[in-house]
Amino acid sequence: MKSSLLQILRTNKEFISGEKISEKLGCSRTAVWKHIDALRKEGYNVEAAPKKGYRLGEEPDLLTKHQLESRLSSDTFVTAVHHYTTLHSTQETAHHLASENAPEGTIVLSDEQTKGKGRLGREWHSPRETGIWMSLILRPDIEVKRAPQLTLLTAVAVVRGIKNSTGLSPEIKWPNDILFEGKKVAGILTEMQAEPDKVNAIIVGLGLNVNQSTFPSPLDRIATSLKIEKGDPVSRVDVLAAILEEWKWLYDVYLKEGFTAIKPLWEAHALTMGKKITARTPKETIIGIATGIDDAGVLLLREQDGTLRHIYSADIEC
Ligand code: BTN
Repeated sequence: MKSSLLQILRTNKEFISGEKISEKLGCSRTAVWKHIDALRKEGYNVEAAPKKGYRLGEEPDLLTKHQLESRLSSDTFVTAVHHYTTLHSTQETAHHLASENAPEGTIVLSDEQTKGKGRLGREWHSPRETGIWMSLILRPDIEVKRAPQLTLLTAVAVVRGIKNSTGLSPEIKWPNDILFEGKKVAGILTEMQAEPDKVNAIIVGLGLNVNQSTFPSPLDRIATSLKIEKGDPVSRVDVLAAILEEWKWLYDVYLKEGFTAIKPLWEAHALTMGKKITARTPKETIIGIATGIDDAGVLLLREQDGTLRHIYSADIEC
């Protein structure tokens, strides 16, 4: 109800009467007033004028269920939004929901995370209401070994969503980093619930730094935010809605045509393509020219002696 009310207020630039809103929503005028009051308490500036009705002014930058739902197009793949003010980790909560049969398209969002998880057991710094800390449950009918492709697909969605909503153009560092000139603005963590030959659920976690002005040491040397890059605050809900739009069509294409259709889009934004890089795996350090990724999403490195190496998992330095 709150999502529909927000949509109505947003599409009417001028005042709209309480009666009209109640007709559109199919509820009483008292119910309309109660919802408007609740929106005001959340920080929405809803003006009221006698004989004219209501008009929406400034909106707070919240990632609540109704704020996000009111921004999504009708053919979104988002089936449920779970929003929390604080969580250990959206990944942990999404895992729990996935094992209780939450449907594909379920999203978990939190204003802050107290134990945000990064790749390779690292911590993900997730301060309150400054970034997008979210996890998405997907249930594609794919082989277990194809799961890492979803990380690359998500990276494309994030880069394109950022570009569409802010005009900024970050780059992708294989496999899961989104960077501006070497500083990380976002990271993706793809985890799976699977049997040996069947994927039950893929949980894709996204951490995106949006409105931080500074970072604590030692992060300040390696992290950035959209606000720092743009020089102005950025609406988190606009960015997330744009990413979800991109994510949806890329996922549709992926399910219909496979990863080969996504690969050129990924390569178009990849920082590492054609560059000399160092790949550190737990066993060895490999130096070579990144020639691209294969159809499975594996990184291809050409060593100086001409040997082509397939990198499945590594820390990359450019
Ligand atoms: C990385 O670059 O190491 C991946 C970072 C992923 C962080 C996100 S924030 C939302 C989701 N919940 C978590 O605990 N981690 C992911």
